[in-house]
Amino acid sequence: MKILVTGGAGFIGSAVVRRAISLGHSVVNLDALTYAACLDNVAEVADHPAYNFEQADIRDRAALDRVFETHMPDAVMHLAAESHVDRSIDGPGDFIETNITGTYNMLEAARSYWVAKGKPEDFRFHHISTDEVFGSLPSDPSVQFTEDTAYDPRSPYSASKAASDHLVRAWHETYGLPVVLTNCSNNYGPYHFPEKLVPVVILNALAGKDLPIYGDGSNIRDWLYVEDHAEALILAVTKGVVGRSYNIGGENECTNLELVKSLCRILDEKRPKATGSYADQITFVTDRPGHDQRYAIDPTRTRAELGWRPSVTVDQGLEKTVDWYLNNEEWWRKLQQRHGVGERLGVKA
Ligand SMILES: NC(=O)c1ccc[n+]([C@@H]2O[C@H](COP(=O)([O-])OP(=O)(O)OC[C@H]3O[C@@H](n4cnc5c(N)ncnc54)[C@H](O)[C@@H]3O)[C@@H](O)[C@H]2O)c1
Repeated sequence: MKILVTGGAGFIGSAVVRRAISLGHSVVNLDALTYAACLDNVAEVADHPAYNFEQADIRDRAALDRVFETHMPDAVMHLAAESHVDRSIDGPGDFIETNITGTYNMLEAARSYWVAKGKPEDFRFHHISTDEVFGSLPSDPSVQFTEDTAYDPRSPYSASKAASDHLVRAWHETYGLPVVLTNCSNNYGPYHFPEKLVPVVILNALAGKDLPIYGDGSNIRDWLYVEDHAEALILAVTKGVVGRSYNIGGENECTNLELVKSLCRILDEKRPKATGSYADQITFVTDRPGHDQRYAIDPTRTRAELGWRPSVTVDQGLEKTVDWYLNNEEWWRKLQQRHGVGERLGVKA
């Protein structure tokens, strides 16, 4: 299958690109190369004959038409997005333009290509989204997000993703475009941009800096190893039922404080400090405005219908992640120089 992957130079998109190539698919990686992108993320497949890269912006409809005409994909996996909640609080405009207008452009470019090809039934437009569109859950562990949970986004980021999900469903209902949607919980793993919680904690710990925890650290997230997400996404685009959405999660709920303590414990084992524990560097900082208290995914449909299972527990995945950051200093040092990285963002509200 020839897959047009948008956002393939980012964290999750690059895992999808690497996995798709390893499974024998052809990939066209379309990415604008924003501050969050890094082509090193796909260096291991860059010379593969089945890999192509197109630097293009999803806000530029003409560029998208050209990419569809040139490469004639069998499927689209649409991951390109502005993805950092804190940046969405400081500058929501980019999130509206890329996540909403950009998705609209992708849908229209895909639709006109699909119509010109005679509306092939096996074409897929797979939209990759987040569990944050469902809002915040109470602490009751029996309550989880299912595919039927009502949308209730609460940050500019999640509202822009929710809008894009609605557009994708509308293009299916109105024009018949064969779409599949997935909504996933928080990812972590190799190539995670160093402004997100897991890499911030690892890299600040190693640098002897504070490990900032928003609020009291009681916010609960459902963590999934990025390569397990990539595997689920490829199953969704190849086996998912048209018009259906699939929730993807690792069933690994933990508070932010527990997550940070786990990372400290792993670092204490792998790179012990001269004295004390990395946990001594934990510092509580002002909470994010509108910080959702709990996300938890019920992945029953994805497990039952797509046959997907995560390959690692959160402890195994965090250990692999710490190893990766310890062994890839050249990768993260460069990205730490980018605009805004290392600064506290999202507190202006
Ligand atoms: N990170 C998570 O935990 C998570 C969880 C669930 C869903 N998602 C979704 O998965 C997708 C990928 O997330 P990520 O964490 O890999 O994001 P990321 O920020 O690491 O990567 C986004 C990529 O999109 C590209 N991009 C941004 N704006 C663009 C534009 N206008 N035109 C073309 N390319 C553009 C960037 O250059 C970057 O390579 C997003 O749609 C996000 O909403 C993320």
